[in-house]
Amino acid sequence: MERFPRVLVDLAALAQNLEVIRAAAPGCEIMAVIKANAYGHGMVAVARALEKADALAVARISEAIALREAGISGEIVLLEGVFSSEELVLAAQHRLTLVLHNEQQIDWLEAFRGGTRFRCWLKIDTGMHRLGISMQDSASAMRRVRGCPAISQPPGLMTHLASAEIEGDPLTKKQLEDFSLLCEAWPGEVSSANSAAVFLRPLARRGWIRPGLALYGVSPLPEVTGADLGLRPAMRFETRIISIKTLSAGDAVGYNSTWTATAPTRIGIAAVGYGDGYLRGFANGAPALVANEQAQLVGRVSMDMIALDLGPGSEAGIGDPVLLWGPELPVEKIAPWASTIPYELLCNVSARVHTEYLPAPVAMA
Ligand SMILES: Cc1ncc(COP(=O)(O)O)c(C=O)c1O
Repeated sequence: MERFPRVLVDLAALAQNLEVIRAAAPGCEIMAVIKANAYGHGMVAVARALEKADALAVARISEAIALREAGISGEIVLLEGVFSSEELVLAAQHRLTLVLHNEQQIDWLEAFRGGTRFRCWLKIDTGMHRLGISMQDSASAMRRVRGCPAISQPPGLMTHLASAEIEGDPLTKKQLEDFSLLCEAWPGEVSSANSAAVFLRPLARRGWIRPGLALYGVSPLPEVTGADLGLRPAMRFETRIISIKTLSAGDAVGYNSTWTATAPTRIGIAAVGYGDGYLRGFANGAPALVANEQAQLVGRVSMDMIALDLGPGSEAGIGDPVLLWGPELPVEKIAPWASTIPYELLCNVSARVHTEYLPAPVAMA
């Protein structure tokens, strides 16, 4: 039985995108960001498809443990570090790499009495003001971490850019300049580039890069698609038409009648809604492809259904495939219709959506 809506994840595209990113940042090591269920693509399958990445990165220890339990044995970085001293013990058991972004985490590391020697990154706040030790406190934090018996080697320096995708952004320039000064003061491993910086910021293409979105074949840059950057979108989000209606001028569609036909037309009801991650915020006119033909969302998105205007001459019928986003309909172009960004659409695909992998993932020993 075919299950809809479904997500088809092209694992070969993921592996190819990794190589495109590698070529864009020659000599760099790649920490593949697979948090949030690998941006909705399925964390374990993606981790296996990206076996050539130099490390994997997640946000939460629960994600890292799930990877270990699935047999992923390579390096896993906790981008937000541990949230408690108990988690530090778990991190030791699961051989996780730590990001230290506040003094409390350094306290826990100093107090750690297990035999594990952690690999660590010291995260510096160069201007995003989210996570990280301030520039002023960076030297004392670095000395403290270097003095910890629980580390395996001097920590690398990490920072995160607030607006790497905005060309000419002065904050990004300042962040990278300050970070460079710090890296000169504390030579060792460095990491500053997210996907946007890989493509736009030569100064960030050094040491370890941390791509997320680009791995999935989606562009981090405004007005540019993944294909423009040589990437292949890995996700197809698709469903089927489950009913067809013929409307007359003046007929309204859906809850609260937010769209009214101005001329006779055919409407396809597709099996997808906000319960699947197709956001209720999508506006009238959002594009979809029905049997490869352009159609537009009309009326409110329901929990399990949407209505698509197929046009009066459409020959579409029940069972026809509906592409919501994918290689032929880049998610970068769909996101603005819900006033959002591709990241949110990808991460929001809900658990009830069936996921299939192409080619089928290779079983791990
Ligand atoms: C610390 C950190 N590094 C790297 C990334 C990857 O960013 P992107 O998906 O824009 O490449 C993220 C994502 O949010 C992040 O939080």
